[in-house]
Amino acid sequence: MRIHEPEFKVRLATAADLAEVLSWLKSEWDGSSGFWGNRKMIQDGQQAGNLIVVGNESIQVSGFLLATDSSMDIMEVRPELQGRGLGSKLALQGLHRIEQSGRIGLVIQCQPSTSIPFWKRFGFHEVERGWADPEDHLEFAFPKVFELPASRPVTEVRVELSRSNGDVLKRGIFISKAVSIDDGRLQLAERIAAYVEDGDTTVAISVGGELVSSKKAKYSGAVGVEYAYPFIRLDAVYP
Ligand SMILES: CC(C)(COP(=O)(O)OP(=O)(O)OC[C@H]1O[C@@H](n2cnc3c(N)ncnc32)[C@H](O)[C@@H]1OP(=O)(O)O)[C@@H](O)C(=O)NCCC(=O)NCCS
Repeated sequence: MRIHEPEFKVRLATAADLAEVLSWLKSEWDGSSGFWGNRKMIQDGQQAGNLIVVGNESIQVSGFLLATDSSMDIMEVRPELQGRGLGSKLALQGLHRIEQSGRIGLVIQCQPSTSIPFWKRFGFHEVERGWADPEDHLEFAFPKVFELPASRPVTEVRVELSRSNGDVLKRGIFISKAVSIDDGRLQLAERIAAYVEDGDTTVAISVGGELVSSKKAKYSGAVGVEYAYPFIRLDAVYP
């Protein structure tokens, strides 16, 4: 932050903020690139409480994010204010809202694709396949760490995700320590949350080196896997 500069804060966009966003987008519209073409969506988003802006006392609207409980749709920071952490403030707020809503993760489309390195810094990864244009689609699953009860034997849970042809997904192997808790479940030390393409992806779970389940994601509920297209989440295994 620069000295003497009023702090930039994120807030829900008012009607006046919306007017400022629209006038900014109109002024930079060159007929093809820019978000002026999305103005209807942005207007509707403001009315639905899905538009946030970042600004300070002197620059009321320095950037905006259109996002819901499940998606992040459009984001921009004024070009002259980029590279100063404002995009990160907006992105973190958007991610927090989605995490609070209980979603396992989200997929975003990066347009323009020049923003891909920005998102990768937050832990987003390119989706492996299954989308029309995978190159500009990134996925992110929310991590979580659990405190394991002390003085219980620790075992290792390994999860492998594979397609019906047997190919293991590029980001398809996860290992976590785990301990038995009182209801018989094995509580993981680290949540396994992953992009799986669809419910037909096989989720193979081994405990202490022994395979305990190998089923499609959509049929793995009994062993503790939660599937919500296109993600799975596993916090504890029911062996
Ligand atoms: C993408 C965008 C919102 C980022 O906003 P920003 O305010 O510049 O982002 P931040 O300052 O919080 O950047 C955080 C870090 O990411 C880096 N970063 C930001 N944009 C980047 C880019 N395009 N490529 C590589 N790194 C980038 C910054 O250098 C910064 O790194 P640092 O912490 O080491 O200094 C902004 O560049 C923008 O409005 N771009 C045009 C519209 C757009 O691409 N929207 C997103 C569509 S999905």
